[in-house]
Amino acid sequence: MLNAIGLQNPGLETFLERDVPFLRKFNTKIIVNVCGHSEDEYVECVRRLSEADVDLLEINISCPNVKAGGIAFGTVPEVAQRITRRCKEAARQPVIMKLSPNVTSIAEMAKAVEAGGADGISLINTLTGMKIDVKTRTFALANKTGGLSGPAIHPVAVRMVYEAAHAVKIPIIGMGGIATAEDALEMILAGATCVAVGTANFRDPAASVRVVDGIRDYLERTHTADVKELIGAVR
Ligand SMILES: Cc1cc2nc3c(=O)[nH]c(=O)nc-3n(C[C@H](O)[C@H](O)[C@H](O)COP(=O)(O)O)c2cc1C
Repeated sequence: MLNAIGLQNPGLETFLERDVPFLRKFNTKIIVNVCGHSEDEYVECVRRLSEADVDLLEINISCPNVKAGGIAFGTVPEVAQRITRRCKEAARQPVIMKLSPNVTSIAEMAKAVEAGGADGISLINTLTGMKIDVKTRTFALANKTGGLSGPAIHPVAVRMVYEAAHAVKIPIIGMGGIATAEDALEMILAGATCVAVGTANFRDPAASVRVVDGIRDYLERTHTADVKELIGAVR
């Protein structure tokens, strides 16, 4: 999938008043994905969310830094470290830093957010892509570029999870093109403690359930007592 939906959302007030109580009806954890267009905006969002009934905050640093001419916060290690530290200071909940794959060294970015005090890391966000419509000779997306996700990016994501897992001690949530249990198991073997499913939900809303069932089958088939034995087992 190539998307440029931006960070469409109802705004913090509506989210806190309408969406959190709705989500609380379900017997599960709530992880809130946070973005901002300035460092102060990140901190302000985290400060408000820290008083809300939510379990974890995931800070998306792939957003463009308006003050720095649109360069994503998550591509400069010092900036990523500083945002992490400031979010940690403002947060009551554990803070997960969501890394961008559009960097030269994912290990450097992982180390930077660990040094800033992150409780965990999630990766990867979408890879920047472009689609040109040859019939109309225009960009397929009005934004020109979009974020590439789904099965095409899975091998890149596995490689980056592996590199990040070897660079830091904090736990990793692996994502990027997971559609089957095998995809998820690759991530876990590469070093992910948790996995997440994004794009596959568009094709099959029950994809996550299939992934969980498939992991259980694999554990039984291979006589593996605990899935934890698989975390980072491929070195
Ligand atoms: C339509 C769409 C919207 C997304 N919005 C966000 C977002 O708001 N924040 C974020 O951190 N990542 C966002 N992502 C990235 C996904 O969370 C995920 O990191 C990425 O798509 C790779 O996983 P996947 O291949 O399973 O989708 C979005 C992805 C898609 C396809």
